[in-house]
Amino acid sequence: MKICVIGLGKAGLPLASVIADSGFDVVGVDVDKNKCEMINKGINPIPEELGLDELISKHGGKKLKATWDYNKAKDCSVFIVIVPLYIDENHIPDFSILESACRSLGKIIKKGDLVVVETTLPPLTTETLIKNWIEEKSNLNGDFYLAYSPERIMTGYSISRLKEFPKVIGGVDKEGGQRAYEIYKNFIGELSLVSNARTAEFIKVIEGCYRDVNVALANELHKIANEIGVDFYKARGYANHEYCHIHLPSTGVGGHCIPVYPWFLINEMEKRGKFDYTRLLRIARELNDGMVEYWAEKIVKKCLEYNKPLNEIKICIKGITFRRGVKELYHSRNLALAKFLAEKGLNVYVYDEMFTKEEIEKLGLKWIESKDADLIFDCFSLRLIVVS
Ligand SMILES: NC(=O)c1ccc[n+]([C@@H]2O[C@H](COP(=O)([O-])OP(=O)(O)OC[C@H]3O[C@@H](n4cnc5c(N)ncnc54)[C@H](O)[C@@H]3O)[C@@H](O)[C@H]2O)c1
Repeated sequence: MKICVIGLGKAGLPLASVIADSGFDVVGVDVDKNKCEMINKGINPIPEELGLDELISKHGGKKLKATWDYNKAKDCSVFIVIVPLYIDENHIPDFSILESACRSLGKIIKKGDLVVVETTLPPLTTETLIKNWIEEKSNLNGDFYLAYSPERIMTGYSISRLKEFPKVIGGVDKEGGQRAYEIYKNFIGELSLVSNARTAEFIKVIEGCYRDVNVALANELHKIANEIGVDFYKARGYANHEYCHIHLPSTGVGGHCIPVYPWFLINEMEKRGKFDYTRLLRIARELNDGMVEYWAEKIVKKCLEYNKPLNEIKICIKGITFRRGVKELYHSRNLALAKFLAEKGLNVYVYDEMFTKEEIEKLGLKWIESKDADLIFDCFSLRLIVVS
């Protein structure tokens, strides 16, 4: 059996490598020719991913063959789709990449083949849009297996997550689920077969919603603690126990995942006229996004303690990635904070150990070594440090 993985990004490439390492022949399809060439030469295009170097140098161009040509995957009988899904500024999913990948797959799929989608999706997408796109381009009418299994990796730890972290899989119908489960068991350490594809889709989305709502709660409690003169972190340490998991406060929630997934449910309920079903999800989104203004106000207040005009105080925003240690700026609230302060006319600089001076300047921001600033705001520890 040959397995095709469509999309060799931060999520797809570790998965394709783990499957190859389990003994399967894998064809990886990606529109990025340069990336395919690197993989086939045994060069890892995602060096920050622990353990991936070894797998790519062992299997790249051998058990894992990368290609940009879908026709080279014609002889595969299992297709795993893991391309991105973004949302636009109105929080509406942009399905164009997924649609294009599914339509290309539709041209090569055969009767009896299995498709498993791993991209995080609004519940019901696999059984509706995905099925239609594949069927429209193939001559198949339900005579292929279709299932959904959400990717649950965390960039940097994907290989160990695939081996140890619980993963779920569910079919559009019973046969699809069963077939997908039997194949996935060969390379996924902890796998559960759930009732159907929409349940598997829902599981992934609600995990993101839980995190978003709980970060919003932590942010709100942190504000209250500051207001009444309580050390939030110490209080949290005592408050948390088996049934209480207060999260850490932040400048908001960034990245491709958590700030996006609540919108999948909010949009679906809106379509159905069930506006009051998602009130908490909406408020959590608003609250987390509003943290930029909250921290900006704290920084400005601190600046007012200086005996200098506001625009002469060198403010360093330290850490602009959406998460510590991941070089990714998508929906980064830390970057949004730096830009917000700069737009307000403050003398804002940025320092981030993951970015060079040139890279920071390309983002339209000024770079500084933190020691040369008057005031530092550390976005990860939320500490305001007066330097001079
Ligand atoms: N990265 C993570 O930490 C993570 C975690 C959980 C889930 N996911 C899921 O995985 C999905 C993919 O994320 P990612 O981080 O791998 O994205 P990525 O941007 O790193 O990679 C996507 C890859 O897909 C390729 N691609 C785009 N269009 C294509 C097409 N038509 N055919 C074939 N390949 C195509 C791109 O060239 C790129 O290599 C996300 O949308 C999300 O649902 C990611």
